[in-house]
Amino acid sequence: MLEDLKRRNREWAAAKIGADPAFFSRLVSQQAPDYLWIGCSDSRVPANEIVGLDPGQMFVHRNVANLAPPQDANYLSVLQYAVDVLRVEHVLVVGHYGCGGVRAAIESTEHGLIDHWLSPVRETAHDHRHELAALNGDARVDRLCELNVLRQVRNVASNPFVTHAWKSGRRLCIHGWVYSLADGLVHDLDVAIAGPADLAARLGDA
Ligand code: CO
Repeated sequence: MLEDLKRRNREWAAAKIGADPAFFSRLVSQQAPDYLWIGCSDSRVPANEIVGLDPGQMFVHRNVANLAPPQDANYLSVLQYAVDVLRVEHVLVVGHYGCGGVRAAIESTEHGLIDHWLSPVRETAHDHRHELAALNGDARVDRLCELNVLRQVRNVASNPFVTHAWKSGRRLCIHGWVYSLADGLVHDLDVAIAGPADLAARLGDA
């Protein structure tokens, strides 16, 4: 199986060079992505591929249930590097419908360590329990996928690295999307946050 992956890698690299001989030599010298993607680790949600971007065009952070926890050093390191060093102009928080992490967070069964990681999703579910109680099965999970994205957008938009960038006049916009496994399309939750006023107006109760 791994030999197969190495063979595919050689073919992929050859095809890239075939189409653009300077492709890799250009990327060696620098990366200048415009976007930071914060998405789920789910194998069906490959960041670059979904939006048709090549290597070098998007900085990517993925974890189970696309969380942006304010105390998580991994996420914070990625965010600071993307904002302060790469100076991305857009942060995309991208959930997906049918997310197993989101589903696991509201199941009564225990899953081990992942239950600790997913506690922010349970908090979001608790905060929106009345709305979610009116929904059943997949509809409830999918709505929580959306609410989880909105909460993570709020986390990113409240982050000191981000608010500092805004204060210094930088253009930086935080977006919330949910990807549909069923048709390959992203659904924009229309919560573009380009500054503190947007955050208060659009996500005050997320
Ligand atoms: Co997922």
